[in-house]
Amino acid sequence: MSRGNINSILKEDRLFSPPTPFSEQSRIKSRADLNALTTDAKENNEVFWAKLAREKLDWQTPFTTILNTEHAPHFKWFEEGTLNISFNCIDRHLKNKADKTAIIFEGEKGDMRHISYQALHDDVCRLANGLKSLGIIAGDRIVIYMPMTPEAVIAMQACARIGAIHSVVFGGFSATSLRDRIEDAGATLLITADGGFRGGKIVELKAAADQALAAGCPSIKQTIVLKRTAHDIHWNTDKDIWWHDITANQSTECEPTWVSSEHPLFLLYTSGSTGKPKGIQHSSAGYLLNALTTVEWVFDIKDDDIFWCTADVGWITGHTYVAYGPLATGSTIVIYEGAPTVPDGGRFWSLCERHGVTIFYTAPTAIRALMKFGDDIPLSYNLEKLRLLGTVGEPINPEAWMWYHRIIGKEQCPIVDTWWQTETGAHMIAPVPGAIPTKPGSCTLALPGIEAAIVDEKGNEILEADVGGYLVIKKPWPSMLRTIWGDDQRYIDTYWAKFEGRYYLSGDSARRDKAGYFWIMGRIDDVLNVSGHRLGTMEVESALVAHERVAEAAVVGKPDEIKGEGIFAFVVLLGDRPEGGVNEALTQELRQWVSEQIGPIAKPDQIRYTDNLPKTRSGKIMRRLLRSIAKGEAITQDTSTLEDEDILKQLSGQA
Ligand code: WT7
Repeated sequence: MSRGNINSILKEDRLFSPPTPFSEQSRIKSRADLNALTTDAKENNEVFWAKLAREKLDWQTPFTTILNTEHAPHFKWFEEGTLNISFNCIDRHLKNKADKTAIIFEGEKGDMRHISYQALHDDVCRLANGLKSLGIIAGDRIVIYMPMTPEAVIAMQACARIGAIHSVVFGGFSATSLRDRIEDAGATLLITADGGFRGGKIVELKAAADQALAAGCPSIKQTIVLKRTAHDIHWNTDKDIWWHDITANQSTECEPTWVSSEHPLFLLYTSGSTGKPKGIQHSSAGYLLNALTTVEWVFDIKDDDIFWCTADVGWITGHTYVAYGPLATGSTIVIYEGAPTVPDGGRFWSLCERHGVTIFYTAPTAIRALMKFGDDIPLSYNLEKLRLLGTVGEPINPEAWMWYHRIIGKEQCPIVDTWWQTETGAHMIAPVPGAIPTKPGSCTLALPGIEAAIVDEKGNEILEADVGGYLVIKKPWPSMLRTIWGDDQRYIDTYWAKFEGRYYLSGDSARRDKAGYFWIMGRIDDVLNVSGHRLGTMEVESALVAHERVAEAAVVGKPDEIKGEGIFAFVVLLGDRPEGGVNEALTQELRQWVSEQIGPIAKPDQIRYTDNLPKTRSGKIMRRLLRSIAKGEAITQDTSTLEDEDILKQLSGQA
């Protein structure tokens, strides 16, 4: 099986029309209906978004300006409007749906909870009041480092309720990564847990938090700790407060803090091609508008749906399609804390059966991993309630797509392959499932109001079919990122400079086929996509060179059957290269080291020792050559600048 193999995708010409029963009941039923919407959005772009913003969001004060472009590329949407995101996700449903289940939770050990909209409201208010009692005010940054439990969503919503800016750090990130993010955000409060349950083990979140705080993070005044595992942890009496203590005597009412449309709702750190991770800053109104409309258009959500997005809240997918979008529509979501393979590879399917999941959204890497367990496992569960499937995070290979379609969807569920990014806030290119026939491996067409294009090096639009180029967005859209926290210049340089502010540069390359469908080809920068998660090659390289024995390192991606991309590191040691290039103990030590520096997802799969890294005359590492070597391909690059032919042998593992 080859993933992201552009040749296998190029040959793909199967077309899957939406099943009739699905289309008949969907919101947008036909290509004609969708075209009407898209045309309206194109011709009256701002009015289109303004109408939706008035219709779909509850405002405290109506907005007066739709889009302010005066300080482009700093765009402002819906100025003078005020609203509250938690009010829009919770309170406005209480009139008709107070008893409706908002969250169905299942832990790895099988513990379950149903939380109604009323109960969610009460829990969010109690915590929000607790935060206020600690002196937190609008604009303060709060870092959330939690297991995937309902409390993670409650914490995010409680921040939103009082206008505090949250920054969720994925629980799989190390103490060092946590510390970097806390310090960059200047957070004053940390919300964590004693631990989480995953893969039959306890994830030691509090221990990592203690380590981060011991090493730095002077801005943190207090830490709220959720009791999840109840195992022994270290307690800092001057800073730590139990979640159950801070919420114990709080009122279940908390007047929402009305904030302006542009008030930052959250920061979320993601990797770029250079330097440290960047804090992507999102707005309030614009963000929620696209989160909500895409849940309606792409997931076609209805009142009786049970929606399960398997992403952790530590990623943008867990923000938009767990914590915000579906709740804004008053829907029921599923949250699962554990691993997909506990007790066996059928856990996702057993959850779908048990909770009657109707819409299921996951990453290609998970599909590929579960596919390996064979067909009998999913076939032994009743998956009849499923009506729509989705994927996100990386290109899906046609083999995995077909398996998902046949074995999970029984050929009755459309598959929405959704292209978007941490920066875009919500789906950008994705099929509207009742209207658009799908092709395995293509994310199809841009959504209404989104103008995606492929341009060449000079910024000229490529209209020819099957010619690759830069994937760009031509017009601002409500849920776009607003800046990079603390580094506005980097915002301009990364996303706008290349085409002089004309387009938003996504960092991906793509092509369109004859039908105009988009096919994502991969990143154009030095960013890896490991199991649907973004990792900068430089981040891994800096972690490696921080080790006392490493002089230099170059990291490249190598296609991996399950993870999409695996990490291959070429390392120059201080002192001698190991005999024959092999030192298994050191390799294990370095892998462990990187895991501690960043997190287990950044662990190199392979490390190769060399006396030198291949560089061009101007001193740039020849990454393309290293990528070919990592893949085991024949070398076509010019290697005449290499000082020493032996190096090539070392790099290839032949010396
Ligand atoms: C990068 C964004 C968006 C949520 C998860 C990842 C890749 C994303 C697809 C897709 C092909 C995709 C792109 C993009 N990507 N979705 N459907 N098909 N590639 O968010 O960490 O911000 O990464 O993921 O390369 O730029 P992220």
